Amino acid sequence: METLNTLIHEHLLLRGQLDYLEAFTLLDEENKIEKLSRTLSNIKSIWDPHEEKEEKFFTKLSKSGIGIEILNEKMLIEEHRQLRGHWEVLNKSLKTKDKNKIWTTLDTDGKMIIEKFRKHMEKEENSFRRIFLPSNPPIDFNVSRD
Ligand SMILES: [Fe+2]
Ligand SMILES: [Fe+2]
Repeated sequence: METLNTLIHEHLLLRGQLDYLEAFTLLDEENKIEKLSRTLSNIKSIWDPHEEKEEKFFTKLSKSGIGIEILNEKMLIEEHRQLRGHWEVLNKSLKTKDKNKIWTTLDTDGKMIIEKFRKHMEKEENSFRRIFLPSNPPIDFNVSRD
């Protein structure tokens, strides 16, 4: 269950960073581009390896048939791609160093990232909970070990 624990732990870290990102959308932080850029790179440093681990985990689960009827792997992976799309837009605007552009993108794609990411993690955790609840039939836990 080590992978699962790591994934859940990373969700907590990502939530914390998304809260930081949200603060930029709520407060008048127009002069804080550097801080914003740091927050984005913090998110990226957790998100990139998280996503890779998670997709491998999904593949392991689906290959072993565990939770196949619960885990909507295709939808979750499609959501990963959608989140990346918003992320690219936000990063491109950051590179322009144009404050207006950056803050407009933060207000659109940035907010979409925050909202969709939170919902996405909730969906994943609900699926994991349903799959790995002790009341479910016994499963081969070796499948989730690296
Ligand atoms: Fe995910
Ligand atoms: Fe995740």
